[in-house]
Amino acid sequence: MKYIFKEGNNDRTLLLLHGTGGNEEDLLPLSDMIDPEANVLSVRGNVNENGMNRYFRRVAEGVFDEDDLIKRTDELYNFLKEKSEEHNFDINQVYAVGYSNGANIAGSLLYHYQDSLKGAMLFHPMVPRRGIELPQHTGVKVFIGAGKNDPICPASEAEELRAMLEGAGVNVELYWTNLGHQLTRDEVEAAKDWYEN
Ligand code: MLT
Repeated sequence: MKYIFKEGNNDRTLLLLHGTGGNEEDLLPLSDMIDPEANVLSVRGNVNENGMNRYFRRVAEGVFDEDDLIKRTDELYNFLKEKSEEHNFDINQVYAVGYSNGANIAGSLLYHYQDSLKGAMLFHPMVPRRGIELPQHTGVKVFIGAGKNDPICPASEAEELRAMLEGAGVNVELYWTNLGHQLTRDEVEAAKDWYEN
């Protein structure tokens, strides 16, 4: 997987995961806003959908290819472990920062692996899978930024995701804007406050 790694000055690592059609440069300004001292691991989605980078395949807008999602989640999980050894960062202090498709693969990490993330900032996520039991996530915290009028990631999915994560022991903060799918400065600032507390 293509990626950027920047060494920081504290124990934490921000795992940046862009939206559909993005790349590993997109969310670098967010890591500067949220924690300029953290290590940064920014990964490019390795699925190509008509020239757009994604982290897993979909069969239609909002309909995921579940087998591919499971496979790519495993791949990202192993990539993270491998890079923590190569770049010498603490695998137990990784916070995902994901937007849209990137938020969905970050959510999928939490749906499938117990020790994958210490926390996550999920901007405009969906429910990655249904009908499975999540691993227990005691001590893990998640910030969800959602738009009440988001046509791609509906408000009901943000609520469902919150309920599923809380059921798995995650401490969840759900932050609403009245807007749509766009990532707003307000929600990034709210995520920064959440991250620091
Ligand atoms: C997805 O496919 O992950 C979601 O529909 C959001 C997106 O368009 O990336």
